[in-house]
Amino acid sequence: MGECGFLKLASSFAQDIAHIQGGVTVLVIRSVDIREKELLDKIVELHQQSFKGFFLSTLHPGFLRQLYKAFVTHKKSELLVALNDDKPVGFIAYSYDTTGVYRYMLWRRFFPFVWYSFLSFLKKPSIFFKMFSALSMPYTHTREEEYVKVFSIGVAPEYQKHGLGTKLIEEMKKRVDFTHFDYITLETDADDNDDANIFYNKNGFKLSQEFITFEGRRMNKYHYRVKHEHLAT
Ligand SMILES: CC(C)(COP(=O)(O)OP(=O)(O)OC[C@H]1O[C@@H](n2cnc3c(N)ncnc32)[C@H](O)[C@@H]1OP(=O)(O)O)[C@@H](O)C(=O)NCCC(=O)NCCS
Repeated sequence: MGECGFLKLASSFAQDIAHIQGGVTVLVIRSVDIREKELLDKIVELHQQSFKGFFLSTLHPGFLRQLYKAFVTHKKSELLVALNDDKPVGFIAYSYDTTGVYRYMLWRRFFPFVWYSFLSFLKKPSIFFKMFSALSMPYTHTREEEYVKVFSIGVAPEYQKHGLGTKLIEEMKKRVDFTHFDYITLETDADDNDDANIFYNKNGFKLSQEFITFEGRRMNKYHYRVKHEHLAT
C-alpha cells in the first residue's frame, strides 16, 4: 500500500472506451499522491458528478476534499484513480482502518474540517446532524475479524457500464493482502439503488446484513471474501 502501482488495462476495455470517446490511448489505475492537489480537486468533481443527489455531494466541495485528502494521507487508507489520457474517469477510496481514518480527519485536520463543516451547514442547515452521525458510525463497529472497508467508488457518468467500476474493484482486490484481512466490506442504499447493488453482486460481494439508519434509510451491507484455496495457489 502507498506506492504508485500502475496498471495498463486490457486493450478490449480501452477499445470500449475509445468507442464512446472517439480515440483513447492509455488508461491507468493508480494510487493518488498527496502532492497531486489538482487531481484531488478533479476527483471531488467526479464524486459530485457520479453521486448526483447523494448526501455527501450536497456538502461544500471543501468538505469532500478533506475527506479524500484523508484517504490519501492516512497511512492505512488509499485513494485509487482511473485516468484516461490523464483525465480522471473513476476512483475508489478504501481503508484498512476505518475508525482510524475518520479520527485522523477529525483530529489531525481539525480546523479545515470544522471550517468546511460550517460552510456545509450554511449551505444546508438540515444536513448538519446527518453529517456527524454518518461520520460517527464507524465507532460502533466491533472488530472480530480484520476487514477493509470501501468508502466510495464512482465512475464518470459517460464511462459507466463499460467495465471500469469492475476494474477499480479488481485493482483493489489485488492490493489487499487476504492472508491478513478476512474480507472487504461496504454499505450501500437498498432502495432506488439497483445499479450499485447489481454491480456489487456481479463483483462477488455477498449480502451480509440489512439495516435501517436512524433517519430511516434502508441499507445493505456486503462482504467479499476470498476462498482459502485461492490463497494457497
Ligand atoms: C456503481 C458504479 C461504480 C459501477 O461502475 P461501472 O463502471 O458502471 O460498472 P461496470 O461497467 O463494471 O458494471 C459491472 C456490472 O454491474 C452492473 N451494472 C453496472 N451499472 C449498471 C446499471 N446502470 N444498471 C444495471 N446494471 C449495472 C451490470 O450488471 C454490469 O455487468 P454487465 O456489464 O455484465 O452487464 C457506477 O455505476 C457509478 O459510479 N455509479 C454512481 C455512484 C455509485 O452509485 N457508487 C456506488 C455506491 S456506494
